[in-house]
Amino acid sequence: MEDVTDSPFRSICKSFGADILITEFICSEGLIRDAAKSKVKLTFGEEERPIGVQIFGHDINSMHKAAMIAEQAGPDFIDINLGCPVKKVVVKGAGAALLNDVPKMISLTAEVVRSTSLPVTVKTRLGWDESSRNIVKVAEMLQDTGIQAISIHGRTRSQLYGGKADWTLIGEVKNNPRMKIPVFGNGDIFTALIAKQMKEQYGVDGLMIGRAAIGNPWIIREIKAYLTEDILLMPPSLQERVDILKKHLSRKTAYKGERSAILEMRKFYSGYFKDLPDFKKYRMRLMMAQSEVEINEIIKEFTIYH
Ligand SMILES: Cc1cc2nc3c(=O)[nH]c(=O)nc-3n(C[C@H](O)[C@H](O)[C@H](O)COP(=O)(O)O)c2cc1C
Repeated sequence: MEDVTDSPFRSICKSFGADILITEFICSEGLIRDAAKSKVKLTFGEEERPIGVQIFGHDINSMHKAAMIAEQAGPDFIDINLGCPVKKVVVKGAGAALLNDVPKMISLTAEVVRSTSLPVTVKTRLGWDESSRNIVKVAEMLQDTGIQAISIHGRTRSQLYGGKADWTLIGEVKNNPRMKIPVFGNGDIFTALIAKQMKEQYGVDGLMIGRAAIGNPWIIREIKAYLTEDILLMPPSLQERVDILKKHLSRKTAYKGERSAILEMRKFYSGYFKDLPDFKKYRMRLMMAQSEVEINEIIKEFTIYH
């Protein structure tokens, strides 16, 4: 997830048991131009393996070059984003826009498969809109290009993040006898209970967790404990949450500088301190904090009173 799953946060998710990690999406044109932001997104630590680098774009030639650059970074696989609904991506014909042009989606995917010796996977949605929920057919066609796995978010592009994810078609893809590659389900897994229900009801090979992990990376530990041992874990103690937050902040600061770290950390506070009483006024202060030292002071004050 952009501005979320950078290397510092991924390594924290790994420590909670994430089996497979994927970078933030990286613009193919940015990679080719050698843009600093795209290059940073390509970096990862050895402990993050197996890791995929996710690329997106609209131009087949650029995707060919981007796949070769991504391969040089040494990931375990390359993932293609065929589902991003954000306007600035879609207007260029990339991400979910390719759901509107299936022949191009297929040629672009086939080209990436040809461009690298690494396994290629894709991440997509159910279709463009309500009238074109064509993922069952599209998944078969994508499989025929030689991809090794598919992740499906149970919404159309038109839905953006609204409404509820519909897993029925994800289940249909998984149960299609033509499908041989692993199918990962994605969308609205916010608790271990939901994770188990989706896994059992739709038989998917894996679950992809997005928003629920923001400020809540221990959800991965909770889901695994429930799936494998039927244990429902308690939420972490305040001390554990604080330790994770501090680790996250200091790694982020070292990774991309204090200014960016402070801005990006703002997405995480509500999650890290979820359900703790009296957090609201501390959250306001955290949102306005200007340095790592100041953030650590505010957190210290919060813990003293709890
Ligand atoms: C802030 C944010 C950034 C995202 N960035 C990406 C991205 O770079 N690549 C991608 O495949 N999906 C991205 N997504 C979509 C998520 O991977 C996921 O498909 C979606 O949030 C639905 O799953 P969830 O209900 O578990 O969050 C992003 C979502 C959010 C909220």
